[in-house]
Amino acid sequence: MGKFITFEGIDGAGKSTHIAFVSDYIKQRGVDLVSSREPGGTPLGEKLREIVLHEKMHLETEALLVFASRREHLAQVIEPALARGAWVISDRFTDSTFAYQGGGRGMSLAKLDALEQWVHPALQPDLTLLFDVPLDVARARLDATRELDKFEQEKSDFFAATRTEYLRRAAEFPQRFRVIDSTQSIAEIQQQIAAILDAFF
Ligand code: TMP
Repeated sequence: MGKFITFEGIDGAGKSTHIAFVSDYIKQRGVDLVSSREPGGTPLGEKLREIVLHEKMHLETEALLVFASRREHLAQVIEPALARGAWVISDRFTDSTFAYQGGGRGMSLAKLDALEQWVHPALQPDLTLLFDVPLDVARARLDATRELDKFEQEKSDFFAATRTEYLRRAAEFPQRFRVIDSTQSIAEIQQQIAAILDAFF
């Protein structure tokens, strides 16, 4: 079995900047690596992503669609890759659903637990890098970027609740979560990630 590594954080936490670094770092070790993302990661998943990111909908519809995208992603990409011994890195996974639909939107965590049990009863990431920043830093980064999607347009109380749920999960699952203070410089963060990956190898 390969290893499964996920990247998490509120919008504007800067995780995208570090995914390429992690990918290069792992490949340098000669590991067969698959890079993917959620929602998305498959042709059907990418169609669902467009809908989830741009259409207004009931919060439970939103949760069902991200889990539908995930089910396809697991079947088509994640499970086959891990089974052949490859490593998988995914830009977001189920922690995003707990943070955004659970924390941010207030959906029942028990229902999300049930969906998780349904879609991936046995699989959890081996390592989750949580990029954490205060809300004002995240907002300033978002305001400096391109056109904002549905989530990125949310107000600060949504992101406060999202961040709180992320940190709660990091405390609940300390064996797989590593929280990275994303207010640090890129060089400092890369140094920290390299140390985490060295320990992981
Ligand atoms: P991205 O901007 O990091 O690509 O993520 C897409 C957006 O989708 C981001 O705002 C978080 C949101 N999202 C959820 O709300 N629930 C989920 O389960 C996932 C995977 C993403």
